[in-house]
Parts: sequence; C-alpha cells; structure tokens
Amino acid sequence: MNPYEPVPMRIARIVVETDDHTLKSFELVFERKADQERFFSLYQPGQFCQLSIFGKGEAPFGVASAAWEGDFVRFTVNKIGVFTRAIHAMNAGDPIGMRGPLGNCYPIDDWKGSNIVVIGGGYAFTTLYALVKHLLAPEIRSQYGDLTVIYGARNSGLFLYKPDTETWYERSDIAFCQAIDLPEEGWSHFVGYVPTVTKEIAPSAENAVAFVCGPSVMIRFTLPVLHELGFSIERIYTSLEKRMKCGIGKCGRCNVGPRYVCKDGPVFAFAQVRELPQDL
Ligand SMILES: Cc1cc2nc3c(=O)[nH]c(=O)nc-3n(C[C@H](O)[C@H](O)[C@H](O)COP(=O)(O)OP(=O)(O)OC[C@H]3O[C@@H](n4cnc5c(N)ncnc54)[C@H](O)[C@@H]3O)c2cc1C
Ligand code: FES
Repeated sequence: MNPYEPVPMRIARIVVETDDHTLKSFELVFERKADQERFFSLYQPGQFCQLSIFGKGEAPFGVASAAWEGDFVRFTVNKIGVFTRAIHAMNAGDPIGMRGPLGNCYPIDDWKGSNIVVIGGGYAFTTLYALVKHLLAPEIRSQYGDLTVIYGARNSGLFLYKPDTETWYERSDIAFCQAIDLPEEGWSHFVGYVPTVTKEIAPSAENAVAFVCGPSVMIRFTLPVLHELGFSIERIYTSLEKRMKCGIGKCGRCNVGPRYVCKDGPVFAFAQVRELPQDL
C-alpha cells in the first residue's frame, strides 16, 4: 500500500459543535470496505489522520470517535486557515481523502486496572473524547478503575459533543466536571480555569494515570497541580501538535530534537517531553 495515497471517503454527517460555528465535526465513511476493515483493525484513540481536499492540500486531525461508535471516523475541525476553511465549506455527501490512522495512541493498555483522569481544555478535547468514548464501552470500562473527566472551555457555548457529554452526568461510571472561565447565568457546574478546578476536585493520584491536552498555558499550570496531587511525570501523558507534511516520519517537518511528533507521537509522557528541546 502506498502510504502517501489517500483512501476515498465521503462526508456522512456534519455537526456544528460551538455557538460561534468555528468548530464543526465531520463524520466520514469509507467508499471501500477493504479500507474500512484496515482502518478499524489498526485504529486506537490518540491517533490522527491526514485529511485531503483536492486542490486545497492536506492537514492532520486527531480522530474524535471510538471504533465501537459505528462505521464512521469523526474529526472536529477548528476553522483557522486555508484547509480548515475549505472543509468547513463542504457538505454531507462530498468526497474527501484520508490517510491513516497515523502516529501512536494513548497507552491505555499499559494502565489496565488503574484509575483514569482525563483533563482537557478547549478544542484539544477531540482525541480525549475518543479516549473517553473508548473507555465507556462496557467490555472495556470494567477493565479500569474510576474515570474522572475535567473539561474546561472559555464559555459554555464552546463545549464540544454537548448532547452526548450531558448524559455523562447521569452515569455512575464516570465523574464528569465541566468548567467555564467566568460565571454565566444558568451555569450550574464549575467556574474557573482548568488548573484551579483540578486543584478543587483533587483527583487522587493513587493507582492513577492522567491524560492532559489543551492550550500550552493550561498545561503549564495544570502540571504543577498534578505534581502536588502526587502524579509523577511518568504517569501524565499529553498529545503534541507540530506542523506536519508526510505524517509518517520521512520528511523531517515535525521533529523536536530526535523525535518525530508524527511517528514517535503525537502522544508522549511528560517524562519524555522533559527530554525534548524547549523550542516546543
Ligand atoms: C497530530 C495533530 C492533530 C491535530 N488535531 C486537530 C483537531 O482535532 N482539530 C483541529 O481543528 N486541528 C487539529 N490539528 C491542527 C490542524 O492540523 C491545523 O489547524 C491545520 O493544519 C490548519 O490548516 P489550515 O490550512 O486551515 O491553516 P493554515 O492556513 O496553514 O494556517 C493558519 C494559521 O494556523 C497556524 N497553524 C496551522 N497549523 C498549525 C499547527 N499544526 N500547529 C500550530 N499552528 C498551526 C498557522 O501558523 C497560521 O497562523 C492537529 C494537528 C496535529 C499535528
Ligand atoms: S511530518 Fe514528516 S516526519 Fe513528521
């Protein structure tokens, strides 16, 4: 198989996620059964794909769905530039190319039996959502201990996957905490920045592992809180983002020191991130 050749996909469904319409989710389905079987035989939460639009180019996006959800692959795209504007202008039924799954995944198989803490801020919640959905599959959920999810956004209109995540409040197998930066009328959950709210909730570090994704400022202030709670840097993972070209470790576009984010990552333990040059 040519690793540079995208497989043909079709947009099956588009969901406008945020009130300001800057984030939309695209559920893509496969045109060929063999491509679908190959994808789902490989895919694990945390991985990404290169999406391509003829005449516009290619760009990497984290997969935001779990394999058990159905025969589609979800991507949630923030409209910021040439490619993302082009995909936002597309409609259900339109064709699109996809390469992947690419990169490594959240190493959850290594942490069976542990309590899981997921901390996300802003639209970096995409692959964390895939991780939580994966863990919530009944046959998988029973292999782990407590599941705590802390998810922050600037305001309530910017939360992703609302109809689904609202049901998490009713479940007994997940402790779900949403936080917004400033008070809002009618908001009954947490108010405050993610690091402050994490300190308030204080998830136990005993037999626990944390997965943290968000803007760099959120990560910078959340790490000391987790450290204070007793999480060692070997037990905290994140997903890095660098500009990419090939996505398979050949072009050198995404390297940080000796590591290629596309191939050695995008998921790294903070113990590994600490070893990387600081220009990250
Ligand atoms: C592994 C990985 C997973 C990603 N997952 C998602 C996702 O789930 N959803 C999502 O919306 N985006 C995601 N991104 C970022 C996404 O790839 C970029 O937003 C996209 O490539 C921008 O393309 P564009 O042509 O619209 O922007 P451009 O026109 O190329 O650039 C617009 C602006 O965005 C900046 N920019 C573009 N790409 C990046 C980047 N990778 N890092 C920092 N700044 C950048 C540019 O410097 C410029 O200021 C991911 C990136 C990586 C590497
Ligand atoms: S994008 Fe080419 S080496 Fe990572």
